[in-house]
Parts: sequence; C-alpha cells; structure tokens
Amino acid sequence: MNSTPANLESSLSVPSVQELAFQRPEKVPARYIRDQDGDGIIATYPSHPSLRVPFIDMAKLVNADTHQKEELRKLHLACKDWGVFQLVNHGLSNSSLKNMGNQVKRFFELPLQEKKRWAQRPGTLEGYGQAFVTSEDQKLDWNDMIFLKCLPIQNRKLDLWPQNPPEFRETLERYSEEIREVTMSVVKFLTMSLGIQDKEISESFREGLYDIRMNCYPPCPEPERVLGIAPHADNSGITLLLDCADFPGLQFLKDKKWVNVEPIEGAIVVNIGQIIEVMSNGIYKAPEHRAVVNKLKERFSIVTFCYPSPHMDIGPADKLTGEGKVAVFKKLTHAEYFRKFFNRDLDESFIDSLRV
Ligand code: OGA
Ligand code: NI
Repeated sequence: MNSTPANLESSLSVPSVQELAFQRPEKVPARYIRDQDGDGIIATYPSHPSLRVPFIDMAKLVNADTHQKEELRKLHLACKDWGVFQLVNHGLSNSSLKNMGNQVKRFFELPLQEKKRWAQRPGTLEGYGQAFVTSEDQKLDWNDMIFLKCLPIQNRKLDLWPQNPPEFRETLERYSEEIREVTMSVVKFLTMSLGIQDKEISESFREGLYDIRMNCYPPCPEPERVLGIAPHADNSGITLLLDCADFPGLQFLKDKKWVNVEPIEGAIVVNIGQIIEVMSNGIYKAPEHRAVVNKLKERFSIVTFCYPSPHMDIGPADKLTGEGKVAVFKKLTHAEYFRKFFNRDLDESFIDSLRV
C-alpha cells in the first residue's frame, strides 16, 4: 500500500444510520454494501450444538473447595480454542445490567440534534458518531455508537458524556466500576488457568483503562448485504460485552465458521483481546468477530474494552518464557504498543506485526 497512512485516532463524519433507517428505504446505500464471500451475501451459520460458545460459571471459579479446578480447565480450553465465553454468576446484578441497557436505549431514542450535543469532535474518537471511518470510499458499518473513556476517572471527557437521559452519567459511572471488579477477577482466573498466577498482570487491571463503546444497530432492509461491525479482533486486554437484545447479532469465527452468540439474560460475553494474546505468549487467542444486523429489530450492545495499567509493559509473561520456552511476541511499553496500533497498516495483521 502506498496510500497516505490513515489517522486511526479519529473518524470522519458520516450520516447517522438510525436516521437512514427511519426513512425506511427499500435498498441500502452503496457505501454499506459488502461483497462478502464473493457472492455478495453475508453467510451466517445456524449455531450448531457442537459449535456453541462455551459457558463459564464464576461461582464455580471462586469456590476453591469444590468446582474450581474443573472450571479452570474449562476456562483454559475456552480461551485456547475459542477466545470467547459467556460468563454467568459474575457478580453484576440483573438490575444493574438492565439499568445500563435502558439508559443506552433511551439515549439512542433521543432526536439526532440532541444526541449531537455529545458528538465526536474533529480529531478524536470519543463521543457520539461512527467509529474508524478513515476514508471517503471505505465501506461503512450499519452502526451508530457512542464511545467514552470511563476509567481511570481522570481520563473522562465529561463534556462528551450525555446528560440526557438524566441518569445516564451516574449509571455509566457505576457500571464501569462494577465492570472493573469483574475484569480483575476474570484476569486473575486467566492467569490461574495459564498456570502462572501472575499477580502483576491481574493487579495491573486495577489501574487499567476502561473504554466503553455503546452500539446501536438499527433494522436494515437488506441485512444479508451489510455488516453491523466488520470482522476484527479487539485491541484490548479483554473485552466484556453486554448484549441487550433477545436475538443474536454478535458472531465469532470458529473453525472458519461464523457462530452466533445466543444472548442469555444476565450473562456477559468475555473475549480475549490482543494484549492478553501477547501476555499469554499466544496460548490464548484474540478471536475474529463481527456483528450482523436484523431486518426488523434494532439491537444494542455495551462493550467495555479493558486494558492493563499504562505502567505495565506489553509482552509475554515472564513465567511463560525462558527455560527452553521461546517468546513469540516482542515486549513493548504501553506507549510503544499504542503508537504501533494507531499507525498500523490496515492491510496487515496487527498481531503478526508484534511477533518476534
Ligand atoms: C466491538 C464489537 C460487537 C457487538 O464493539 O468491538 O465487537 O455485537 N461489537 O456489538
Ligand atoms: Ni469487537
């Protein structure tokens, strides 16, 4: 590629997909149409029982006397073979999840002009708008979103935090604190399932960065020709996704097939991000995933990208290298890692660029 590098830290402004959908078009504008699999159809596979995203029960992980060993084994296989699992008994109450979902729904129901009070400003990704639109000829996702840095508190840009609905800010504040608790437990168990019990890694998520992306996928007249979010792996430590719909939209690539995540009330979808892929020395994989859209129904999701503290280097855990075990990834400082990420070549695999 000899084109000028895209600025991946900001997004060009494009029309609201919700507004487009309100006009009830019969056809989707060309900028959203994808030529997938060569025939223009977004192939979806029904979730086969043998291809079901694994379940992990946090109550069993916590209980050292009884089921912990068995559940840690399940966790290990889930992270190694899938890179994703549905987490139940994670400690977040159903009412807390419902509140967060309701606030997000109510925000997206506001008139466009009102939502635009919290629109992305030129040169940043935060705020209300669309993500990662870097060129005028890029294919667009069937998605509107609002992206906010939530933790640590000093990273918040409150001028981009909606004040309508009135409880939005307070609910998001509480939700991000609760998500941090869950993340720290999950990462602790990940280090246990890796057999390294690395306190430095799990503790680094206490001072970690928590960015939340709230997605709205409006109904689409030609759902088989568009994507809500194009295939990608997350650049996080781990990602915690709250699915507010009662029908599937999120899909993970497993054995070359796209597998639906069936939403379960009260569950959180946890996937490995590229930082944990690096820290686990490639034992755990950051999976490719995407979102598809529905012809009749709108879908919302609340996605928290959880990163270790900026003081933590991003490289394979010490206990997984040395003594005959080779590091498959380089060790970078947090700043180096993100510089590399924001200057990455979109035609190359980012994770491969981190290999030794
Ligand atoms: C993301 C993502 C999927 C979804 O925001 O990175 O993968 O279902 N979202 O919203
Ligand atoms: Ni993602």
